[in-house]
Amino acid sequence: MQFKDKKLDRNAPCWCGSGKKYKHCHMDFDEKIREFEVKGFIVPERKLIKTPEQVEGIKASAKINIAVLDEVASRIKIGMSTEEIDRIVYDTTTKMGGIPAPLNYEGFPKSVCTSINEEVCHGIPSPDVILKDGDIINVDVSTIYHGYFSDSSRMFCMGNVSPEKKKLVDVTKECVEIGIKNVKPWTCLGDMGNAVHQHAVENGYSVVREIGGHGCGIEFHEDPWVSYVSVPGTEMLMVPGMCFTIEPMVNMGRDDIFQDEENGWTIYTEDGLPSAQWEVQVLVTDNGCEVIAY
Ligand code: MF3
Ligand code: CO
Repeated sequence: MQFKDKKLDRNAPCWCGSGKKYKHCHMDFDEKIREFEVKGFIVPERKLIKTPEQVEGIKASAKINIAVLDEVASRIKIGMSTEEIDRIVYDTTTKMGGIPAPLNYEGFPKSVCTSINEEVCHGIPSPDVILKDGDIINVDVSTIYHGYFSDSSRMFCMGNVSPEKKKLVDVTKECVEIGIKNVKPWTCLGDMGNAVHQHAVENGYSVVREIGGHGCGIEFHEDPWVSYVSVPGTEMLMVPGMCFTIEPMVNMGRDDIFQDEENGWTIYTEDGLPSAQWEVQVLVTDNGCEVIAY
């Protein structure tokens, strides 16, 4: 909680919905956050701490998200259009009772983002884009289920991918794994983001600065914004119950990017070299984190 969150009476029912008295539930937890705030840390507002009921809802949404990506994984192949991937995502999501979160999100026209090679993110599925031998593609799936949001993405290597591109895909996955290991409660997002960045740089790559991860669960994109080019000891304090994505965009060349002027969405690398991204959604726990969507 921040100072601006309402202070509860010790004997009031706890804000988390446990039914317990505040003093027997989240009172010490809130005090601890307040101590960090006094020391100058950026701390989460109470609304970013998911209640057990919200966690259950987000996990149910994530279950669909994972199933959709599993379905894509089993059917994606050379010669398929990205429109067909969009169809698989729409059909699988809706059959399970979910809604694809990207569809009509701020005007986005499709149910999923499909970003190939030098496309960094927000590629728009199209019947004219056909998967070719040697392509690397990110499929970024997001689901709404009973009002709860989930978000994760995977890379797929089509046929004979060059060793250089294969390494980019693998190192980017390692970056996410390092991010997961560095989600520790009562440390800063900047500690985690810096660890991710270091691994990319050690391999000769760069990480996109302008676009990052985000809180996710009650809304598609909520606070905090999560950078993977950050400084240790900076950015928001990670606190149990927070839920956000780890989704670095790693470029083989320089970190500069530009946006497609015609469709207003797709982001490309400025130097035309490939970019890769994996995305997981995590829940901060008392001793690390739980990966809830991948
Ligand atoms: N799924 C993307 C993310 O990881 C967001 C895509 S917004 C969309 O945050 F509108 F392009 F779908
Ligand atoms: Co995301």
